[in-house]
Amino acid sequence: MSTFPTSDSSTPIVVVEADPSVRSRLSMQLGERAIALESLDGVEDRFTSPFLLVLGPSCALVPGVTGAEGMLARRSDIGAILIAENLSTEVFQRAMRSGVRDVLGAPVDTGQLNEAVRRVSASLVTSSPNGSVGSVAATVPEDDTSEQGRVITVFSTKGGAGKSVLATNLGVILAQRSEGTVALVDADLQFGDIAVMLKLAPQHTIVDAVGSFDRLDVGFLESLLATHQPSGLKVLPAPLEPAFADQIGAEQMNAIIRLLRTFCTYVVVDTPAYFNDVVLGLIEESDDVLLVAGMDIPNIKNVKIGLQTLRLLNTPMNKIHLILNRANSKVKLEVSEVERTLQVKADALIPSDIVVPQSVNKGTPVVIDAPRSSIAKSLEQLADRFAPRVDAKAKKKR
Ligand SMILES: Nc1ncnc2c1ncn2[C@@H]1O[C@H](COP(=O)(O)OP(=O)(O)OP(=O)(O)O)[C@@H](O)[C@H]1O
Ligand SMILES: [Mg+2]
Repeated sequence: MSTFPTSDSSTPIVVVEADPSVRSRLSMQLGERAIALESLDGVEDRFTSPFLLVLGPSCALVPGVTGAEGMLARRSDIGAILIAENLSTEVFQRAMRSGVRDVLGAPVDTGQLNEAVRRVSASLVTSSPNGSVGSVAATVPEDDTSEQGRVITVFSTKGGAGKSVLATNLGVILAQRSEGTVALVDADLQFGDIAVMLKLAPQHTIVDAVGSFDRLDVGFLESLLATHQPSGLKVLPAPLEPAFADQIGAEQMNAIIRLLRTFCTYVVVDTPAYFNDVVLGLIEESDDVLLVAGMDIPNIKNVKIGLQTLRLLNTPMNKIHLILNRANSKVKLEVSEVERTLQVKADALIPSDIVVPQSVNKGTPVVIDAPRSSIAKSLEQLADRFAPRVDAKAKKKR
């Protein structure tokens, strides 16, 4: 079996696995940078600068999942990947929550392993070395069963699929239709571009919410939201620099969402194009997940993998809605073919239209910029699932 070249970075890769044959196979798959160890003993003291930690299947048997949680909580410069024999929801979630950045099923394929190493390496570069996640404490009313806003997360396992375009336009339409507050949260923490797409110059970002987590309440959170004047949509922007992304963990994100849903009618959430603990937490917390797929084979392949992962995590399939973007493209791929491959019926078809990039470049959502376009109409139709249309006069509020 050939070994794949890993990224050019000189970051060491520490492989921890009790079974000698599994250990040597993993280090062969990872190439020259791999340092194979039988256990985690002494690892933290031996490697004082950033490193990647590949935890073999024997580590997934340890109570608390990996035995590395303490070390991962102390050191944000360790990028951990867990390979688990039994990729159950419980293992997956506990691993993510204990600071592991990716979980792969055993036996792992070389390409998949090195792809995870590359992704985790990239996130290590953008993390601050001491940016440890603080303890969770916000004053969120627990399990308040009174009227709660609906949380709609827009997700895709493919970059550039159209998540942010969809999230901004849906947020704007819901804000125009709704009497109550509608919030849009940019949970693409490293490269979020909601503020740019809405031409906002935010005073505050989600980092401020997490920075003052102990005193986070409705009033304080409201004061952090930027207003998109044309629609009244309230926006919680992503950090201004990717390095701050690590300060926001899944528990903080979900606490913010739970607080938002206490005073918002709808909370729309935009996400990055991969699973991490923040995204998993959001999917769990959401009432609806709009899974966006573009109309090409790499898109469909990645979305299929995304769907499989969601099934594996026992995500209720009735809250997942498949949205096919650029669905009219003459790309020799039929909607029915895509639906058959994904084994899911599309809930909405959004056409491809040049007015989209034009509106993105203007910082004006297409539903405002070109309301008569076919894409604006299809976005309005998508919003019908969540909120009834109102007549023009009723839109005037605030
Ligand atoms: N239906 C469409 N028709 C034409 N262009 C589109 C359409 N949807 C999205 N685009 C274009 O594709 C680009 C990528 O869209 P968008 O930023 O929403 O994707 P994303 O999934 O959020 O990407 P990322 O994973 O990088 O966050 C946008 O700049 C937009 O111009
Ligand atoms: Mg985006």
